[in-house]
Amino acid sequence: MAAAPPPIPPGPTRAPDASSEVTLADWPGVRLHVVSGKGGTGKTTVAAALALTLASLGRRVLLVEVEGRQGISQVLDVPPLSIEDRLLMKVSGGGEVWGLAIEVKAALLEYLDIFYKLGRAGSILEKTGAIDFATTIAPGVRDVLVVGKVYESVRRRRGGGTQAGPPFAYDAVVLDAPPTGRIGHVLNVNDEVAELAKVGPIRGQADSITRMLRSGTAVVHLTTLLEDMPVQETVDAVAQLASIHVPVGAVIVNQARDDVLSPETLAALGQGDGELAAVGTAFESVGLPGGDDVVAALAAEARDHAERIALEDELLTVLADLDRPLYVLPRIAGGADPGGVRILAQQLAEQAVWQ
Ligand SMILES: Nc1ncnc2c1ncn2[C@@H]1O[C@H](COP(=O)(O)OP(=O)(O)O)[C@@H](O)[C@H]1O
Ligand SMILES: [Mg+2]
Repeated sequence: MAAAPPPIPPGPTRAPDASSEVTLADWPGVRLHVVSGKGGTGKTTVAAALALTLASLGRRVLLVEVEGRQGISQVLDVPPLSIEDRLLMKVSGGGEVWGLAIEVKAALLEYLDIFYKLGRAGSILEKTGAIDFATTIAPGVRDVLVVGKVYESVRRRRGGGTQAGPPFAYDAVVLDAPPTGRIGHVLNVNDEVAELAKVGPIRGQADSITRMLRSGTAVVHLTTLLEDMPVQETVDAVAQLASIHVPVGAVIVNQARDDVLSPETLAALGQGDGELAAVGTAFESVGLPGGDDVVAALAAEARDHAERIALEDELLTVLADLDRPLYVLPRIAGGADPGGVRILAQQLAEQAVWQ
């Protein structure tokens, strides 16, 4: 039975109640949301919006960015994320959004400390430049470290450990991930690590990460625009993710515009300039230029627009054929500022299937 989506902040404060148990039927059991897509299609914006959507359900959400891009801090208007989890905002409904920036060097030191109990030796390694060496020389290592750190955040329990018992530190982790061109590589850690470590703790952790990525605990959401190239990349990414057995969550069309012309007008435009001639007459009747050249220019523009909409419809069909939940987010006038992100979060909530 579908329940109404909860409000997105700012909004009336909602007392925690049964609806905080509401789950997204589109992604049952999912605790890691990886947001990828072609560069510039809205990964950072959508990741931030999704974190707000989940937090509005009363969840404790960790929003993670990688490689020091600091996009989230701008999008949500919060201080730059740090290599340690920090609370970014509390949300009506009792939820919280926390932030984490994964930095490869810090992740490597932490990794060495956990797996080899290096402690101080780790910082000596750093002083000697060995860490820089390791992160520069083996690009595969970077990805393994990033995913390893994300994995650790997903598994961590309140109080710090990973043993079952206390609740998870975060109900959901949302990753503002690298673009589709790299995502298969990033998530295919096992193959990467196979080159580096055949046995031992790193190998064991890589196996656990792969299990988690394939278990249904994680999904990859793909952002796209209604344009040829991003849609093609989305189609390719779906195939690539299938080949490494990582499930796709939603396909999220971003920056969709409202149709300016009605389907009837678009149809009329396909049949001649009759409607526009009437517009020319109307223009002239109120003293505006409405001559043939004006009508011709209007007709050309309107036809371009009609073609554009037909192409967008075609692309939407291609995306729908991918058979994943499809979300369509509007273009926000003036760009995706913190207010705009809230509108997008509300849209995600409204379009999700709730149970
Ligand atoms: N729905 C939207 N409406 C308007 N502008 C948007 C929307 N989504 C993203 N943008 C803008 O598009 C640009 C790219 O978005 P961003 O989230 O940084 O993409 P990515 O992380 O994929 O590179 C940014 O300037 C952002 O503000
Ligand atoms: Mg980004």
